[in-house]
Amino acid sequence: MKTILDNLNWRYATKKFDSTKKLSNENLNTLLEAARLTASSYGLQPYHIYVIENEEIRTRLRKVSYDQPQITDASHLIVLANKPTFNDTLIDDYIENIMVVRGLSKDDLKEFSQTMKSTLLDLPDAQKGAWTSNQAYIVLGNLMTVAANMQIDACPMEGFDNEQYNEILGLSDKGLNAAVVLAVGYRSKEDETQNHRKVRYSKEQIITHIN
Ligand SMILES: Cc1cc2nc3c(=O)[nH]c(=O)nc-3n(C[C@H](O)[C@H](O)[C@H](O)COP(=O)(O)O)c2cc1C
Repeated sequence: MKTILDNLNWRYATKKFDSTKKLSNENLNTLLEAARLTASSYGLQPYHIYVIENEEIRTRLRKVSYDQPQITDASHLIVLANKPTFNDTLIDDYIENIMVVRGLSKDDLKEFSQTMKSTLLDLPDAQKGAWTSNQAYIVLGNLMTVAANMQIDACPMEGFDNEQYNEILGLSDKGLNAAVVLAVGYRSKEDETQNHRKVRYSKEQIITHIN
């Protein structure tokens, strides 16, 4: 039985996928469920998750991703799209969801709603966008760890033109922006990168205990 650290040492940002190997529906669903279960600030989930298999779309996306082969050769491409701005609808929809799931009244949630509105709604758009993008990156981290633990290969990717992605995927019209991408699938035996040693700061350099 592999430990979590075995799997985190096994994973690497895959450069060359075996394009003949596809994730099973069951594995894909597990990954997506892990994405959906990711924690977010206040629980607001200010993002949307796109799963792209379509070859033609992926060929177009590759052209605006510095021609990186992972875009077309991975089994699936997961695009995490954040909300570059938002208004009270984001919070009202979430409150509505809590009411249904937990059987609470609007009044029960009034204070919570007001706290979220007063901390978030007056932020300038740039800060709103940075905050929602941060939330999308938590999904990315969660997906990467879960994928590694399932021995599914992945490559996190920011090397793409997000405006072109927004155009190709029709995201702007939906109030979304492509924040970051995760290509998932299975490594090619020919990918030399899998043999590279991990480069990380030592524990002493990067961790400080304050007791
Ligand atoms: C947010 C993020 C964006 C990245 N973008 C790319 C990318 O566009 N293309 C790529 O080949 N690798 C990309 N990487 C992979 C990193 O270079 C890699 O994770 C890092 O060098 C550590 O190596 P390892 O993941 O193999 O352990 C990205 C990683 C992260 C976390």
